[in-house]
Amino acid sequence: MLYKPTRVRRRLRGQSIPSPTAECLSKGGWILAAGGKAYEMANVTVIGAQWGDEGKGKLVDWLSNRADVVVRFQGGHNAGHTLVVGDQTYKLSLLPSGVVQGKLSIIGNGVVVDPWHLLSEIETLRGQGVAISPDLLVLADNACLILPIHRDLDQAREAAASNKIGTTGRGIGPAYEDKVGRRAVRVADLEDPEALAAKLDRLNAHHAPLRSGLGLPAMDVAALLAELQAMAPKILPYARPAWLLLDEVVKAGRRVLFEGAQGALLDVDHGTYPYVTSSNTVAGQAAAGSGLGPRGPGYVLGIVKAYTTRVGEGPFPTELHDEVGKHLGEVGREVGTVTGRSRRCGWFDAALVRQSVALNGISGIALTKLDVLDGLPQLRICTGYRLNGAEIGHMPAGLSAQSRLEPIYEEMEGWSETTQGARTWKTLPGNAVKYVRRIEELIGAPVALLSTSPQRDDTILMRDPFQS
Ligand code: IMP
Repeated sequence: MLYKPTRVRRRLRGQSIPSPTAECLSKGGWILAAGGKAYEMANVTVIGAQWGDEGKGKLVDWLSNRADVVVRFQGGHNAGHTLVVGDQTYKLSLLPSGVVQGKLSIIGNGVVVDPWHLLSEIETLRGQGVAISPDLLVLADNACLILPIHRDLDQAREAAASNKIGTTGRGIGPAYEDKVGRRAVRVADLEDPEALAAKLDRLNAHHAPLRSGLGLPAMDVAALLAELQAMAPKILPYARPAWLLLDEVVKAGRRVLFEGAQGALLDVDHGTYPYVTSSNTVAGQAAAGSGLGPRGPGYVLGIVKAYTTRVGEGPFPTELHDEVGKHLGEVGREVGTVTGRSRRCGWFDAALVRQSVALNGISGIALTKLDVLDGLPQLRICTGYRLNGAEIGHMPAGLSAQSRLEPIYEEMEGWSETTQGARTWKTLPGNAVKYVRRIEELIGAPVALLSTSPQRDDTILMRDPFQS
């Protein structure tokens, strides 16, 4: 029997979306029932438009309210998303922020998953009263795992390197290396002890010389196999073909929110390589990292901080080593959620964000932390760079050129009033409005949302990304 569209919608209207039935899909029920009509495409992709830590967690949480499904599509537990709801603070690294609002949340195939971390994050959130079950949380069965050998390698390499990247030490890079090297353990391997044992042997053959070169003890394959087998019954209930579920929800006209981690300038192709993370962080990855394909990303919302920060090493043309830099760090509480490291701070770099707007196909931005600039008498915005006597408007690819860039600044008057907690555009001081408008002009994208404190409700909506 074929499902009629109304019946399909009815089936999907409940809290938990059932797994796709073989009957429905094999008979082409969705497509036939839709009679060739285009289904509503109302997806939003949220990405960091700078070097991460732009405040994505709060915005994703805020937008989750308007979405049916929230999907993580890259990175791993190197991310740190803080959500403040009333007097509760939730810190998420791996789980999609939608879990806090009880939305169907998917960890896509593009994410590298530390299963120990996953279970402990689930437990922490449950301890805060968040209900998490396999009805609400889905883990792509083709996602690759981060194992303790990846963390060992990440940390030992950083300790030994003269040119450190400043990674989070969570094994992200080595896990992606094994994925691309076609030897990673994937979630689905946990159901097959024989395949799992063979994969661990293969991994050991690759890692043994690396470990001994770094002075690490040999890998205990039998112990790791036993640990993974013991953990499998806790992980597998969440494992599903996420691409199939997403295909189903999109065809039923549901709204999908893709939640990026890190920032576009940490992208392994487009960022300040090699001082980047090991995944594609740009919006296009929402397609490949979820399995939804090019129809996936929809409206791209770039999260942009009103100044610039970066954690770890790498070029940063507008970095400040003075009192203003210290002020931004202190007032903005610029300390890494995952590692506790202080973030480097600097003036807003419009050239970088303009580059990000192009790389991500940004439709609109959410500007965050404007209130951190309250009280600064004079502000600067970088509009481009000087390199070898010439002016350029973008970050060049070469590392040596990147480190020689001299920012070209435009000065603007600051404001003495507070913008913290503002909930309407009208209550913003005139100079704050001028600053925001100038940013829009320089980056070539409109402000859709303005966030004026970590609190969920301190948000000014200019354009609803789900209605655009
Ligand atoms: P990895 O992702 O741990 O390999 O770290 C590579 C680089 O990305 C380092 O500079 C990290 O500080 C940075 N990084 C990774 N995750 C985040 C994040 O969530 N926010 C900001 N920077 C990050």
